[in-house]
Amino acid sequence: MKYLTILMVITVFFSCKPQDSNCNTLQKQIDSLKIELAQVYKPGFGFLMTNIQAHHAKLWFAGIHKNWKLAQFEIKEIKEVADEIQEYQKQREETKLMSMIEPALVDLERDIGQKNIQLFKKDYEQLTIACNDCHKLTDFEYNIVKIPETLEFSNQEFKVSD
Ligand code: HEC
Repeated sequence: MKYLTILMVITVFFSCKPQDSNCNTLQKQIDSLKIELAQVYKPGFGFLMTNIQAHHAKLWFAGIHKNWKLAQFEIKEIKEVADEIQEYQKQREETKLMSMIEPALVDLERDIGQKNIQLFKKDYEQLTIACNDCHKLTDFEYNIVKIPETLEFSNQEFKVSD
């Protein structure tokens, strides 16, 4: 919507005559819109990665408790954040490598569909390796992701009651 407004202002601006006093007003509007646009909140790479980290941990605990619905949900969340990285961090070179986790996510979705805990554990390890492979390639090798040992979200139920 904002882009459309800018486009309209620009269109009117170029169709206005220089001696027209409206030109000045339009220029001012363009300037203030430029400032507004620069101030629009854009989530940072690190912020989005911390979000992925949370879903990566939750995915593990959902999986080992055979909470398949929650595990599927966590995969969806990881994919959504990966999409947000593609959208909001287009300018970062590293973004091109986000697809590195896709094969592991596809395999995990299959395991979840089959409710196969052994395969789930194996492919979760592959996902974690893919996270770290990208960190190595992007010179963030000191950001080491691992299979979580303890569940830091004590305010969420991971076990399914059956
Ligand atoms: C594009 C390749 C890439 C992939 C794939 C990737 N990461 Fe990252 N990750 C990065 C980059 C780049 C950073 C540094 C971001 C920054 O500049 O703040 C990062 C940072 C992080 C951080 C540190 C965030 C912080 O601020 O403390 C964590 C945690 C993290 N990633 C977890 C993961 C997990 C979990 C996965 C896999 C599910 C993953 N990453 C997959 C590139 C990747």
